[in-house]
Amino acid sequence: MHSFCHFWIILDYLTGTNTSQEIHQNNSSVHLLDQKQNILQFILYFSSSMSTTNISGKAIIAHGSGVYSLENIDVFPPQHDEVLVQIKASGICHTDYDSVNHWPAPFIVGHEGAGIVIETGAAVQHLQKGDHVILNWAIPCGECFQCKNGQTNICERNSPVIHHGKYNSGHAPLERTLFQNKGILRSFNLGTMSTHTVVKEAATIKINPDVPFASACIVGCGVMTGVGSVWNTAKVKEGSSVAVLGTGGVGLNIIQGAKIAKAGKIIAIDISEKRLQLAAQFGATHLIKVSSSDPKLKVAKEEIWKITGRGADYAFECTGIPQLGDAPLRLIRNAGMAVQVSGIEQEINIDMNLFEWDKIYLNPLYGKSNPANDFPRIIRHYKAKELMLDELISKIYNPEELSIAFDDMLNGRIAKGVIQF
Ligand SMILES: NC(=O)c1ccc[n+]([C@@H]2O[C@H](COP(=O)([O-])OP(=O)(O)OC[C@H]3O[C@@H](n4cnc5c(N)ncnc54)[C@H](O)[C@@H]3O)[C@@H](O)[C@H]2O)c1
Ligand SMILES: [Zn+2]
Ligand SMILES: [Zn+2]
Repeated sequence: MHSFCHFWIILDYLTGTNTSQEIHQNNSSVHLLDQKQNILQFILYFSSSMSTTNISGKAIIAHGSGVYSLENIDVFPPQHDEVLVQIKASGICHTDYDSVNHWPAPFIVGHEGAGIVIETGAAVQHLQKGDHVILNWAIPCGECFQCKNGQTNICERNSPVIHHGKYNSGHAPLERTLFQNKGILRSFNLGTMSTHTVVKEAATIKINPDVPFASACIVGCGVMTGVGSVWNTAKVKEGSSVAVLGTGGVGLNIIQGAKIAKAGKIIAIDISEKRLQLAAQFGATHLIKVSSSDPKLKVAKEEIWKITGRGADYAFECTGIPQLGDAPLRLIRNAGMAVQVSGIEQEINIDMNLFEWDKIYLNPLYGKSNPANDFPRIIRHYKAKELMLDELISKIYNPEELSIAFDDMLNGRIAKGVIQF
């Protein structure tokens, strides 16, 4: 009511009349009122990106120790360089499962999202209402040591992983989303398992509206981490041999990245028959079924030596199983590259013989990605039908079905699951 009165006072100024009187005497001043309403519509149109009203939304909130629920949230308008995104689809990453079980709570779950920009802050430069975007969780500050050295994925100021999930001021403030009247953490500063989120403009990458939201959202972590580990971290060479241990959401994208890099042999290794079938569909040239009771991977090693003669040039571990932290070292040749993509953080014992000789061991974060360049590159390969996104989505879930989605993921029934809002 207050802001409505404000508009009429501005209109009085613009038309040189007194509006409150006009309203009471409107028989004789219809024309003038029409004129004012046109101006009002004009102002409302251009001020729509400066709305001050909050939105009532829904979000999946983690409460700690594996408990989560769909709850009401209030989302406030974006300020400065922030945008309000209506989330249409949120992918499910294995890290979401780990987060609800182990991270301090409460927080809004989810870090793979795509949606529509519905409001922009005054300092937003490259986006407008109606734009379709993929959210990304690596916003470079551009000024820290790592950013200046081109390692923006591990930005010392803004990376949620380097800051162990704690909020820092490089992101939209917690108070943009209230749960039970308090600002709430958003997983990876995104919190994509919600109807709406406010993020920095830099946390969005604009895409063409012809990319379906479900296919777009998974680029935000699983796809980027997989292909990025191949393209940016290992820089896999044409004709080389690549072993992929764990062919789930991330592993399948390592296979896709290796195929685009024209690797000669792509060897998929998993305990799940269904996941191995998927691996073949996504470009694996050899499949090895292993058992979780063989953490030293004797069978896989023998097979790989038969296929390659001396061990794989590259081996990627993406199972999330701590005991397999040393596994990629077991599968590569001398001077080969072991890439541990899971981000295993537990303490394990490693036989130093496994490093012999001249081996490289790396653990990339977010596929060493720079989303501003890498997301469009991924979409270009998708458009050229060299990288499958639609086919990665085995099932769409309602927000109430996260437990079913986790169960399907853990039992290898799906490649990627997506929650649609
Ligand atoms: N470093 C990063 O930036 C980053 C990003 C995303 C995900 N991750 C991590 O990557 C890992 C994989 O994520 P995801 O979404 O692909 O998970 P997922 O559950 O979809 O896939 C895991 C795969 O590992 C297989 N597996 C399990 N135990 C195995 C064993 N003993 N031997 C061989 N295969 C086995 C499963 O069958 C499944 O196919 C998780 O630990 C996740 O937290 C890291
Ligand atoms: Zn930085
Ligand atoms: Zn993830």
